Formats: sequence, structure tokens, C-alpha cells
Amino acid sequence: MDAVLAACRAALDRPGRIIALTGAGVSAESGIPTFRGKDGYWTIGAREYHPQELATREAFDEMPWSVWAWYLYRRGVCRQAEPNAGHHALVRLASQLGDRFALVTQNVDGLHRRAGSPDAHTFAIHGDISLMRCARDCVADRWPIPDAVPALARNEDVSPASKALLVCPRCGGMARPHVLWFDESYDEPRFHLDTVREIATQAALVIVAGTSAQTNLPWQVVTLGARAGATIVDINVEDNPFGDIAERSGGVVRGPAAAALTAVADHLR
Ligand code: OAD
Repeated sequence: MDAVLAACRAALDRPGRIIALTGAGVSAESGIPTFRGKDGYWTIGAREYHPQELATREAFDEMPWSVWAWYLYRRGVCRQAEPNAGHHALVRLASQLGDRFALVTQNVDGLHRRAGSPDAHTFAIHGDISLMRCARDCVADRWPIPDAVPALARNEDVSPASKALLVCPRCGGMARPHVLWFDESYDEPRFHLDTVREIATQAALVIVAGTSAQTNLPWQVVTLGARAGATIVDINVEDNPFGDIAERSGGVVRGPAAAALTAVADHLR
């Protein structure tokens, strides 16, 4: 850990942006199941689905209300959860580093926002489970899912009253969760693609925490950052492809993100 802290401090003394790139592992200590962990399964009828099968436009088009039920259940889990010390450490980093700092998160659970991460420096590149947008994309705007739409229990169906509220305020057509699905692409208006890539090319430090390195834009952030000469560090309980890159750069911390991010924020005070 000391070597990683020293590498972060040295990177801070160079010009450039400081990026924190977070994944589901940062929210695991708040009790939210990770994406590829064993507790990610969801049952519809007699079939068990893995998130990668349900979080798709294809599944939504085929069985929209089953996909909505899954998201409204997960929205309830996320609302029950509380930000943990890792989320709070990143809020401290944002206030310590000001405009240099950028938080790029894959998490749709909203815990960074609820911890107080400033919107201006927080980029939710996979969307937000508390928001919805037009399923026909009549506009790129997104709206909060109405509070009158309750959280669902596991395998509870979406009620007719909730279905009537899950509509696009503009065209009246069906709404969809504002999240990036596996068979969809990043873009700037909804997922900050260009902004995040640009910040990565200016990075002096990329702190990766709690991700299995399976998705595209996070790979672009790490590789663009490394190419720009940024120090890469990886915080995870397990080895992962970003750790291989970090081993040759700022080093790795093999342990829970909450404690490691707290140590980083304390050290960079
Ligand atoms: P994953 O579930 O793929 O990976 C979670 C990572 O966190 C794993 O590498 C775990 O080892 C690690 N981990 C678990 N607990 C941890 C802890 N307490 N401290 C530190 N690390 C811990 O989740 P992501 O990598 O975030 O995208 O998945 C990325 C994306 O895959 C998700 O955003 C989702 C999915 O495609 C969309 O929904 C578009």
C-alpha cells in the first residue's frame, strides 16, 4: 500500500487530471451485489437469467415488463443501500483536488451522488438506475422514475398503476431504464463518451477501484491515460487485467476498496 500511496503522491506533483474509475466492487461493501458475482442471477418463470442476458435492448423488446421488474427490484436494493467509506473518500478527493479531479463510474446505483460527489466532476458512463428515458429515444433527456413507482420485491410483477407512470413525458410512449445495455453503444449525450476520453488523455493519475475490466470505455480510459504517461493504480480484492497494467505503473492494492480509497484520500490530503 505504501508504494501505491507514494506513486499517487508523485503523480499529483505532475500536471494533469486525476481520475478515479469505479466499478461494482466499490458498492459491494454497501451490500449491492456485483455484476459478475454469484448473487447476480435473476429468475423469470422457470428460467434463471444472468445480468448480461437481461441488461439488453433485445430482452427489453422481447419482455419489457420482466426487464422493468428486474430494474425496479434493483432500484429498491440500491435505495436501501448506503454509501460506504469508499464513496465518502472519493468525495473528499473531489473537494481536495477541485477541477483536477474526475470520477468516472460504471455504477448505476447512485451511491456516489448520494455520498456527495459533485455532478460537475462525476461521469456515470453506464447510466443511473433511478432515471428513465423514452424507449423510442424521441429525446435523449432522462427523468427520475416517479416516486409513486414503488420498489419491487424479487419476482414481483410491475403493477398496472406503475406501468401507467413508466411513460415518456414527451411522447407518451413507453419509458425504459436509463442504463447502458450490453447490446448498445456509449455516446456523448447519454454516457459522456467524448468528455471522458478527453479527460483520460490529460491524466496524470488513474485510480481504478472495484472493476473486473470487462467493459469498453473503462479500457479506453486506462489505455489513453497510460499512453499520456499517467500513473495507473488498481484497487481490487482479486487480480484483473487492469492490475496487470498497474503492476507496471503505480502498483496494485489487493484488498477492499473502502479502506484503500480512504488511505489514498488521507494521503493526498
Ligand atoms: P463486476 O461485477 O464485473 O466486477 C466487480 C469487481 O469488483 C471484481 O473484479 C471484484 O473482484 C471486485 N470487488 C468485489 N468486492 C470488492 C471490494 N470490496 N473491494 C474492491 N473490489 C471488489 O463489476 P464491474 O467491473 O463494475 O455495465 O462491471 C462493469 C459493468 O459490467 C457494469 O457497470 C455493467 C456490466 O456490463 C452495464 O450495466 C452497462
